[in-house]
Amino acid sequence: MTFDATIARIGVVTVSDRASRGEYEDRGGPAIRDYLAEILTSPFEPVVRVIADEQPLIERTLIELCDNEQCCLVITTGGTGPALRDVTPEATEAVCQKMMPGFGELMRKVSLEKVATAILSRQTAGIRGKSLLVNLPGQPKAIKECLDAVFPAIPYCIDLLEGPYLTTDESKIKAFRPKK
Ligand code: MTE
Repeated sequence: MTFDATIARIGVVTVSDRASRGEYEDRGGPAIRDYLAEILTSPFEPVVRVIADEQPLIERTLIELCDNEQCCLVITTGGTGPALRDVTPEATEAVCQKMMPGFGELMRKVSLEKVATAILSRQTAGIRGKSLLVNLPGQPKAIKECLDAVFPAIPYCIDLLEGPYLTTDESKIKAFRPKK
């Protein structure tokens, strides 16, 4: 399957036992989609999944979004904490060839200014092929807090991975690209 290379496909993965069983409404996935619609000025298409906290399932879903759906960016929400069933960072690490620890470090730093329990998130990021994967905590309000911090670096990261040229509404997020 080939997709229009000018439209950025962006995976949005909610990892939650309860949301995947329909026991509560998924608020994280829609919050990520709304955030992207708000800040991106280049065309994009979300590819959405809501799945349980099962490591093999998370790994399969991430692989499918990167390799088959050709998402340049995959954002997960949930499953980053210390609870027994929280395994999103392990699944992310298992499918990535390179880890990008700066993302988790920066997101925890800004989150700690808001909430002491930010240290409970093991959120990370990494590269699989030409895709950047970024974990966010499950709290819907964490989504903007974390993405505001790391998004300025994401378009250039995707340039380096030979992906689509992402542009942003500069009044909201100023993408940083080093001058050639
Ligand atoms: N980060 C931000 N910005 N805002 C939050 O409310 N919640 C924390 C932390 N990071 C939070 C946050 C809490 S309470 C937990 S347990 C961890 O993220 C892990 O959340 P998760 O298991 O839903 O991914």
